Amino acid sequence: MIKPQLAEFMRRMDKDSVAIIPAAREAVRSHDTNYRYRQNSDFFYLTGFEEPEAIAVIAPSKEKKFTMFVRPRDLDQEIWYGYRAGVEGAVRDYGADEAFTIDTFDEKLAEIVDGPEVLYYAFGHTTPEMDQKIIRQLAQMRETNRKPLEPPRTIVDPSSILHEMRVIKSAEEIDLMQRAADIAAEAHVEAMKTIHPGMMEYEVEAMLEAYFRKHGASGSSYTSIVGAGGNATVLHYIDNKDQLKDGDLLLVDAGAEYKGYASDITRTFPINGKFSQAQREIYDLVLKCQMSCVDMVRPGVRLEDLKTHSIEVLTEGMVELGLLKGDPKRLIEGKKYMQFYMHNLGHYLGIDVHDAGRYYFNGESRPAEVGMVMTIEPGLYISPDTSRIPEGFNKDIPAKYLGIGVRIEDDVLVTENGARVLTHKVPKDADEIEALMAK
Ligand code: GLY
Ligand code: MN
Ligand code: MN
Repeated sequence: MIKPQLAEFMRRMDKDSVAIIPAAREAVRSHDTNYRYRQNSDFFYLTGFEEPEAIAVIAPSKEKKFTMFVRPRDLDQEIWYGYRAGVEGAVRDYGADEAFTIDTFDEKLAEIVDGPEVLYYAFGHTTPEMDQKIIRQLAQMRETNRKPLEPPRTIVDPSSILHEMRVIKSAEEIDLMQRAADIAAEAHVEAMKTIHPGMMEYEVEAMLEAYFRKHGASGSSYTSIVGAGGNATVLHYIDNKDQLKDGDLLLVDAGAEYKGYASDITRTFPINGKFSQAQREIYDLVLKCQMSCVDMVRPGVRLEDLKTHSIEVLTEGMVELGLLKGDPKRLIEGKKYMQFYMHNLGHYLGIDVHDAGRYYFNGESRPAEVGMVMTIEPGLYISPDTSRIPEGFNKDIPAKYLGIGVRIEDDVLVTENGARVLTHKVPKDADEIEALMAK
């Protein structure tokens, strides 16, 4: 049985067409050892096949609609690196109409691209070698004009179909994403219950990732960010090497990957279990912003409107706290909020943590649709280092706020009735966090 996604992709393809979708290549970590293999997201979405050195050829109007090129079974290789599906497995377990070993792809390419009007192939997405192979083949066929060869006249990026499909999640995908979210949420709860002054950031990282693996996730969906104190003000801090100090906040941005689907959660909590007055002021402002953005999520809301709303809430709050000075409207026009809120409100989430799909159509921000999954993750970051504040920004920051970084991030599914928060299992209300940590 082929995946429903592949059937839908075939329906959306041009009738007289063929698609060539290669797997991800293996990536060398150093010398002769590789990173753990991670399949190309589009390839995985269509086939579910998780081996390298594979190519899917999809031709909706041919008798053999779905052909796979895969690594052959190989006893010696399988002793070292494990099971391979081989051509039999590609047909039996992945629904291919036929399968060949990958070494025969080059000789079959001429046949594959001879005839269809449209070729779906994403140049620049896999390897230059693969791109060159396709280019050479087409060029050769165009030159051979005294033979009855018909190379495709149009080349289309398959992501124009695939990535639009990936934006809207199916019920099966939502179930997997809920599981990815639950595992990560529970890990964050564990972190809240476990941490104490004196621990190292990497211990928290190890604890989270152990929890992910223990509960069936393949690992993290991105490198975990565990930033204590001023490290929380570095947006993509991944060194995770410092000690947790009494009186500081800890920012944890960590998500699990479950059966190919990502979750992405950030929580910020006090290392000693109790927010200081100043920390609480910043925290409650970010939380108010985050919750009112989640409230706004419904079909039709434009993603840019959510961002604008987050800027308004945070800017007004920052004026009240003395982080910004002046009229909020003018501060927003001058983008002064960017001193403390410098990233986007969120992103699509799915097989990729920053998932595929367009955010704009004809320059217009896209309205939310039922079945989209996205993150809502506002934050405020007040660097402890005041020596490098650019001209035009506030240099007179209340000392009590220096070194505070807060981000709160949930994953939400757009439904008819508004947002369903997939990551609801981990508290974000400051009192609830304190109560949990006191246990
Ligand atoms: N951890 C990456 C992100 O939140 O987008
Ligand atoms: Mn995110
Ligand atoms: Mn995140």
